[in-house]
Amino acid sequence: MPKKSIKSLKLFKKLSAVTPGGVNSPFRSFHEMQMPTLIFLKGNGSKIWDIDGNCCLDYLGAWGPAILGHAHPEVIKEARKAIEDSPVLGVSTPWEFEMASLVQKAFPSMEMIRFVNSGAEAVEAAIRLARGGTKRSLLVRFEGGYHGHGDSVLWTYGPEEHHPIKETGVPKGMAEETVCVPFNDFQTLDEVFKKQGEEIAALLVEPITGSMGVILPQPGFLEKCRELTTQVGAILIFDEVLTGFRVALGGAQERFKIKADLTCLGKILGGGFPAGAYGGRKDLMEKLAPLGYVYQAGTFSGNPITMRAGACAVRLLSRTGVYEKLEKKTKTLLSGIKQTAEKKGIPVQTPHAGSLFSILFSEKPVLNFQDSLKIDVKRYLVFFQKMLENGILFPPSASDAAVVSLAHTSIEIEQTITIFSKICNFSTKKLTSGRGERI
Ligand SMILES: Cc1ncc(COP(=O)(O)O)c(C=O)c1O
Repeated sequence: MPKKSIKSLKLFKKLSAVTPGGVNSPFRSFHEMQMPTLIFLKGNGSKIWDIDGNCCLDYLGAWGPAILGHAHPEVIKEARKAIEDSPVLGVSTPWEFEMASLVQKAFPSMEMIRFVNSGAEAVEAAIRLARGGTKRSLLVRFEGGYHGHGDSVLWTYGPEEHHPIKETGVPKGMAEETVCVPFNDFQTLDEVFKKQGEEIAALLVEPITGSMGVILPQPGFLEKCRELTTQVGAILIFDEVLTGFRVALGGAQERFKIKADLTCLGKILGGGFPAGAYGGRKDLMEKLAPLGYVYQAGTFSGNPITMRAGACAVRLLSRTGVYEKLEKKTKTLLSGIKQTAEKKGIPVQTPHAGSLFSILFSEKPVLNFQDSLKIDVKRYLVFFQKMLENGILFPPSASDAAVVSLAHTSIEIEQTITIFSKICNFSTKKLTSGRGERI
């Protein structure tokens, strides 16, 4: 914890009295890191400032969106113009077409697009569309994946003793319409499709996972997902809310050259404003209201601020060399961390794709949810607290993904490695608790 955090502590207490856990999204809680949640005021470039005036180099990146760094001047200028012209009109605007064209260019599989306001909304709508489009209801997805807080994607979120199904509020019927398979498990996936293929509406996959650590698909795994869904006439949904515009401009589908039937986007898409989108095959998208019977709507969907700021961000990201630069910075950071940890005898895995990465204190590579349950959470806790004391913010959760932005300088990356080597003694003796509530 930064030395001077009096204002944060006081305000967090007050916030906790009016908001469950003191946070408006459980991710933000520092609970798993066994410390009070700090309260932040502003961000600029690679840094954010808390209300006590402590400045942190930020590898959280707002959980993904801040790929250009915080408050990029060109994006803010565009958003300002949109605000002056009225932030919400509730009617169609030219910015929706401009934004859709930019998204389509990056994601050619999205023949038609709908804009919504969050990743969770995009995923829920895509699942409904797949169900309506196939006239089937079974959803297959992967254990430990995160797709937002919709009923269809929550029920197996963690062991029964931590999350008694009845108390989660997810209807039993919803749970019965979902099958969960371990990520990267070819055989189980094959078996499920063999047994229940005719009932499957959709296979929902994060092509590269984030919340159980950055896990890359084993060679051929996404191809297997494509092949099985095509065989049984199910819809392949890529949840690229985290990976879209992050691991490449065209997301994981550009990296792995796989065409999804439906794709979900969010985070970076809005240039820092609330955003989500789903889209894909024209024949499916035309089943949405007002053309078809699948309903989805929203007062703020495609609002001018998000469309104009988002289009500006996507244009900036489309410049030559952006993703090479991001990958280079990330590789420098991670090889520094890995080499330092190895010298000190600390087992660490540093999986990454582009500028999306995880620091997983584990002897073995993490390939699925069960592996992610074995990572050394106590070691991460000390890492998190000590890095924060030294002005560097990582995700307050041992298995979540971190990010590098275009605003991070080589000097800042070197400083991060130097600080890591200074704090790298990692006594975890006095710690009692393990993994937090999220799993
Ligand atoms: C892969 C994935 N899907 C969906 C979501 C939900 O997005 P949002 O928080 O914008 O609702 C997230 C958020 O972290 C995500 O990482």
